[in-house]
Amino acid sequence: MNLAEQHRICAENPEAFWQQAASLIDWSQAPTRALPDAAADGGWFADGRLNTCHNALDRHVQAGHGDRPAVVFESGINGASQILSYAELAAKVQECAAVLQRLGARAGDRVLIFMPMIPDVVVGMLACARIGAIHSVVFGGFAAPELAARIDDAEPKVLLVASCGLEPSRVVDYMELVNGALTLAEHSVDAVLVKQRPEHGAVLLPGRDHDWDHELAAHAGANVPCVDRSSSDPLYILYTSGTTGRPKGVVRDNGGHAVALAWSMANIFDITAGDVWWAASDVGWVVGHSYIVYAPLLAGSTTVLYEGKPVGTPDAGTWWRICEKHQVRGLFAAPTAIRAIRRADEPGEHVRASQLTSLKTLYVAGERIDPETADWARRTLQVPVVDNWWQTETGWPITVTIPSDESDSGASSRAGGQPSPGYDIAVLNDNGEPVPTGDEGSICIRLPLPPGPASAIWGDEERYTTEYLSTFEGYYLTGDGGFLDENGRLHVLGRTDDVINVAGHRLSTGALEAIVAAHRAVAECAVIGRADALKGQTPHAIVVLKDGHSPDTDAVATEIVELVRAEFGAVAALREVHIVSALPKTRSGKLLRRTMRDLAEGRTTVVPGTVEDPSIVESLRGELGTTSQPAAR
Ligand code: COA
Ligand code: AMP
Repeated sequence: MNLAEQHRICAENPEAFWQQAASLIDWSQAPTRALPDAAADGGWFADGRLNTCHNALDRHVQAGHGDRPAVVFESGINGASQILSYAELAAKVQECAAVLQRLGARAGDRVLIFMPMIPDVVVGMLACARIGAIHSVVFGGFAAPELAARIDDAEPKVLLVASCGLEPSRVVDYMELVNGALTLAEHSVDAVLVKQRPEHGAVLLPGRDHDWDHELAAHAGANVPCVDRSSSDPLYILYTSGTTGRPKGVVRDNGGHAVALAWSMANIFDITAGDVWWAASDVGWVVGHSYIVYAPLLAGSTTVLYEGKPVGTPDAGTWWRICEKHQVRGLFAAPTAIRAIRRADEPGEHVRASQLTSLKTLYVAGERIDPETADWARRTLQVPVVDNWWQTETGWPITVTIPSDESDSGASSRAGGQPSPGYDIAVLNDNGEPVPTGDEGSICIRLPLPPGPASAIWGDEERYTTEYLSTFEGYYLTGDGGFLDENGRLHVLGRTDDVINVAGHRLSTGALEAIVAAHRAVAECAVIGRADALKGQTPHAIVVLKDGHSPDTDAVATEIVELVRAEFGAVAALREVHIVSALPKTRSGKLLRRTMRDLAEGRTTVVPGTVEDPSIVESLRGELGTTSQPAAR
């Protein structure tokens, strides 16, 4: 049955649709009702009870599939390769769960995980799920202050960390970052469990730090039962960028999440038990949570866990060799990765060097895919390219392009397409009214949302309502702008707020601005996302220096780049600093970001009538060193 049909059936009787979907999950107490009861404030499948780890592992082992590969690990960096069967993974998870319990972690406690793409990170996440602890995985590209902010917000009892991460050009000392973060944080943790990697070992602090391998070995053969959770109990917190510098801890429940992911795996990604699936993201992002770890394991399929880059580790053929070696059926990637591969292998020689007969579909998400790259992938891989649009908050695709639509030029040129069941999309103007077909507006989702999306921000009850529900009554605000076409398909044009997307990584310009503004020579600044042919966008800092400061501007620019790296992390990839004489503002003092972005991208810009001083716009045009080009849509 196609997605449109499923969407229709769901809209007609959502209770029956989601009760049926709930049968994909083992419940210790089956839910008597699917839909949230607004009066009871209970969330999806409110009286259902389950354990997500049981659903991801034990039930497959109990059904006789313990020998089936659960995780296939490949490192493009150190050449490691490992396969963990469902039974092996379940055993490791129980060892880790036993260690967590020994270290004092109980249901509802937070466990923060700071690990690279190694099998142990999956073990750690599932061990938390098993004992009902709430994990919060932090991406390795963040610096110590960002890690500290997350530690202070989540207040974890235990940290699970690795001694290092491997980037192509350097070994990232994770333990140094952890130690730095724990010094900065006000919250202190009871214990740190450290996975030592051969490339760079960590010095363990007696009393606080514990050796992962040693501890797990001491609990070999542990039998740790799955702790029963209510459907709405939190499974994890995942921090994402908001419009302010303060990260938002998106809270995911157990029940709605399990149902939505299990449903999506079969019905959107066409993956069932025994299939091999590869989401080439990172566990630090939502794509990694949903489609490297939980969804493929809930489905009983095999998930590929890859440490490395799409190019340069060692070459642009790595992905295709892995696809051939493990007979990958579905590949999920960020458009940036495909652009990087295409740039290195436009003729597709690396692609042709591998037998890709198992590969049926390439799924792309995380940022807009440009039509040229989508066409290249389709032609070169000879598989459909399916774009899916969603966000950390929703946890699974809101819309999916339909492969058969792809001949319709433009359908795949911008994200969007057909909504998944339960997502009722509306494009609204500033007054909250639906705009005519083809007109741009704010993309919103009529409430209630389907199962899966977050319904809370950790530690801040008001913030979820303020940020997502209060702009337009009865709607969830996605933060993206776009339009619906005459076929009812959604086209996503990009964020309407101060969030930018760098290589599929969601970053807050507010967070970066706060860091740049803290430099001693900076009077005021703006950080904007400028279009980039490889990474989609890259951050550019536009800076006005304090009066009387006539330092070496190159040196200041270098210091700002270093400051952002030290305070936010390498993932920001802020490399461009423009020192200018003034920033354009409205008469009420609001920065004209759109104007700055247009100027930085060399487009002609319509200067708003509210501008405080039009001559600043003109001088900025020269200072940003750009030539005028027609404005893009
Ligand atoms: N831990 C520590 N540092 C990390 C990191 C991690 N997990 N991931 C990235 N970084 C660092 C990199 O080492 C780099 O640091 P550098 O400035 O010292 O070189 C910086 O963060 C930027 O990294 P990245 O965005 O990976 O850029 P790159 O130039 O090294 O690689 C691409 C370019 C295109 C290969 C890469 O951006 C890529 O693979 N993009 C796809 C990303 C993706 O899958 N996103 C999906 C999220 S859903
Ligand atoms: P994140 O929460 O990190 O997954 O980032 C979500 C944001 O990334 C969305 O709000 C969009 O702006 C953007 N995004 C995600 N997927 C797509 C896509 N397929 N096409 C265009 N933009 C996307």
